[in-house]
Amino acid sequence: MSTTDPEHRIVIEPFKVKVLEPLPFRTRAQREEVLGAAGWNLFLVPAREVTFDFLTDSGTTAMSAAQWAAMMVADESYAGSRSFERFEAVVRDVTGFPHVIPTHQGRAAERLLFSTLVKAGDVVPSNNHFDTTRANLEHLGATALDLVIPEGRDPASLHPFKGNLDLARLEACCREHAGRIPLGMITITNNTGGGQPVSLENLRGAAEIYRRHGIPFVIDACRFAENAWFVKVREPGQLERTPRAIAREIFELADACLVSAKKDGMVNIGGFIATRRGAWLPALRSLLILTEGFPTYGGLAARDLEALAVGLEEALDERYLEYRVATSRYLAEGLVARGVPVMQPPGGHAVYIDARTFLPHLAPAELPAQALACELYLALGVRTCEIGTVMFGKTAADGSLVPSAMELVRLALPRRVYTQAHFDYILEGVEGVVARKDRLRGLRIVEEPPFLRHFTARFAPLA
Ligand code: F0G
Repeated sequence: MSTTDPEHRIVIEPFKVKVLEPLPFRTRAQREEVLGAAGWNLFLVPAREVTFDFLTDSGTTAMSAAQWAAMMVADESYAGSRSFERFEAVVRDVTGFPHVIPTHQGRAAERLLFSTLVKAGDVVPSNNHFDTTRANLEHLGATALDLVIPEGRDPASLHPFKGNLDLARLEACCREHAGRIPLGMITITNNTGGGQPVSLENLRGAAEIYRRHGIPFVIDACRFAENAWFVKVREPGQLERTPRAIAREIFELADACLVSAKKDGMVNIGGFIATRRGAWLPALRSLLILTEGFPTYGGLAARDLEALAVGLEEALDERYLEYRVATSRYLAEGLVARGVPVMQPPGGHAVYIDARTFLPHLAPAELPAQALACELYLALGVRTCEIGTVMFGKTAADGSLVPSAMELVRLALPRRVYTQAHFDYILEGVEGVVARKDRLRGLRIVEEPPFLRHFTARFAPLA
């Protein structure tokens, strides 16, 4: 039963289309040529050759008429712009944090906060750190620790909050590394762990542990609205509350948040730090001015701040959130019904296909997730992202590949961009991929850079 509309069971796109962008259509033969030229790496395929782009949900949102309208009235003053005041008021209202620092995107917020608080030898726990969070911490010589609950590492587990922090391990970690933890984190939703939510109860537990140990609690909150929706519908006693009230309670548990606004900020670029720790401000502002911009724009145009002020409100709309979570569930259920195993339960922003289970005839060294991602592109023009041995596998001293723990293909869903008819079309096409899956060939790496291989490596099909 729909929770926002008692008269209907079907969840629809809660908007109509005002501006449209034609989809590029290509034949399989055309895509074979494109993929060959791109070295079988979907990051190297031009977007004009992609019909459905599920590479990321980051910065790919369709903005609303209200956002575009707000951009037109932006005040582009260098200092003290009216648009900053509007943005700051919305962030204060949504988060409850009095201090708001705009940045051009999430990783800039990470770098600012970490370089003012973290030093070599420090330890920073979280459920799972996102790649850029981990990389920014490691760049400073700190250790990024992942302490997600065991269910969060099991693709088949149906636990409703697979993003939860393992509180017993967190307590042990805080004791073991006492004096070396400058801040403690949680990512909501847990992107690296499959877009899985964290419960309010778990957030309260983590906040209590961090507080008792005198450790500031920082939430990586780029998908805070989706997490609030999952709390509403999955956590006992929360159904009657608004996502806004739940989100506010979550932020009130913490000392600060880091936000890439390219997700639930509903914009194409932007981010911010918000905090109640006034003592952190002087150092943050100095570094902000040095590397991002004046504190009232922080690397963004005022029109971006206007779009973000409107977007943060739109992301908390119940009809929108219900539809948003229904899209990933719809796609996941459709894949499972056609014999494609997906990570369960489906996350908020993405569906993850378990390529190891789907293609048992391919060994990890034959890159099954990369092979499946390429086949989904060739068959349907769908661009996805491999999260498996290409991204995380290590190359041993003898040149052989050490596979990663899982072989996943991520279908990350841009916000408000694709419709149910698009998903139906894709699901119909997936039936053909399932029918010939036993004949799918693996891939080998023919060229790779020394780090972050997945962005630029080139591959070739195995004979
Ligand atoms: N934190 C999380 C949980 C993220 O998912 C991302 C980005 C960032 C931080 C960094 O933000 O890109 O604005 O600098 N995730 C994108 C993705 C790239 O595709 O999952 P950014």
